[in-house]
Amino acid sequence: MPAVVVLGAQWGDEGKGKATDQLGSRVDYVVKFNGGNNAGHTVVVGDEKYALHLLPSGILSPGCVPVIGNGVVVDLEVLFEELDALTSRGVDVSRLLISSSAHIIPSYNRTLDKVTERFLGKRQIGTTGRGIGPTYADKMNRVGIRISDLFDEKILREKVEGALTQKNQVLVKIYNRRAADIDAVTAELLAYADRVRPMVADTSLVLNQALDAGKTLVFEAGQATMLDVDHGTYPFVTSSSATAGGVCTGAGIGPSRVDRVVGVIKAYTTRVGEGPFPTELLDDMGEHLRKTGGEYGVTTGRPRRTGWYDAVIARYSGRINGLTDLVLTKLDVLTGLEKVPVCVAYDVDGVRHDEMPVDQSAFHHAKPIYEEFDGWWEDISHCRTFEELPVNAQRYVLALEEMSGTRISAIGVGPDREATIVRHDLLD
Ligand code: GDP
Ligand code: IMO
Ligand code: MG
Repeated sequence: MPAVVVLGAQWGDEGKGKATDQLGSRVDYVVKFNGGNNAGHTVVVGDEKYALHLLPSGILSPGCVPVIGNGVVVDLEVLFEELDALTSRGVDVSRLLISSSAHIIPSYNRTLDKVTERFLGKRQIGTTGRGIGPTYADKMNRVGIRISDLFDEKILREKVEGALTQKNQVLVKIYNRRAADIDAVTAELLAYADRVRPMVADTSLVLNQALDAGKTLVFEAGQATMLDVDHGTYPFVTSSSATAGGVCTGAGIGPSRVDRVVGVIKAYTTRVGEGPFPTELLDDMGEHLRKTGGEYGVTTGRPRRTGWYDAVIARYSGRINGLTDLVLTKLDVLTGLEKVPVCVAYDVDGVRHDEMPVDQSAFHHAKPIYEEFDGWWEDISHCRTFEELPVNAQRYVLALEEMSGTRISAIGVGPDREATIVRHDLLD
């Protein structure tokens, strides 16, 4: 009865939502431990398509308890919008648990996120504008507001006042915006208190008790390894720990409790927002991958940047996360290509790098060294065993597996729940 981490091995949007959802019916708890509604997961169940942002993908599986851990930042307006939208489509959301220690995204942090980006000009990160960065900054700066603060009006007001004393100076004097009103913000947050109360729990205790009882838990990361605040392409990253280490702090469990760490990785690469991307394709082929793969953001609708598979990043992700398995997604998108290049190493100013350069500017200068594989033409979306795949697709997968250093346990051949080839059971 394992505890399994499912995380992104590239720059996000690898298909984590589908991978988690697929395990759903056999899982007792699905736990989100980092990020907030900057995430966007599309899950296709039969004819129904769901776009989830803040809620863990396990919410779609009857019987599974979805949990928002202490490491998540919660926009209360978005929380209830998402819950209401699912309820109106007949999804039972009554099992959701939220950590009393999770931080809240107040409206002034959404404002700050957007104005800060505008002021950064050329150096902007391309954030989702959801207030994620300012809210994690408040957490570290010890002026954050937590779910538990909603239940004591006096404390809530004091905390809002404490935060705004500082922030209003910034909003007014630096960004030339209106100051946020302490009473209005307090009232805005208080309005959610009664609705949130029944969902609030000591989620660390709940999860540890579930582990003791031999339940099956999936910890679902938002964002991805290359967007992790420590291990990603800083400063072009998100503000949370999206790697396996984030599970322990973000959910309140010890590292010894984790049995499996599954990296979800696309058969090519995408990135949203600014920052270095060695295998990026700015030509017709990039557009082909974007169109064929439907690479447009679930959260902001932005076209995703596209490029070839990068085995250096796959190896790096394996190392940073201690990956035990890879789920390779969107292999079907590569169907119909004459040749499929894979980046096997980088050339940085004439020097070959087989591993991720530690130096940030070296990564900015990294030129991919490619190895080419023969493509395939057959429709693979109906394949359900590895042997059914065309020989060239099999060779491509086996080559990625060898280069990446982690076994590929499942292969995605389409967006539907069923469109997956399973080679090794992730819950075994
Ligand atoms: P996440 O943020 O990692 O959960 O990924 P997103 O949902 O943002 O983006 C992945 C997209 O790819 C979604 O639209 C999925 O429905 C889709 N998808 C996932 N796996 C596959 C696959 O194997 N093949 C195809 N064609 N689409 C897939
Ligand atoms: P999922 O969970 C892809 C990117 C943004 C921006 C940077 C910082 O769907 O994989 P933020 O708003 O987090 O401060 O933005 O991170 N980003 C994502 N890119 N998928 C995501 O989530 C992302 N969440 C944030 O585009 O470059
Ligand atoms: Mg996404």
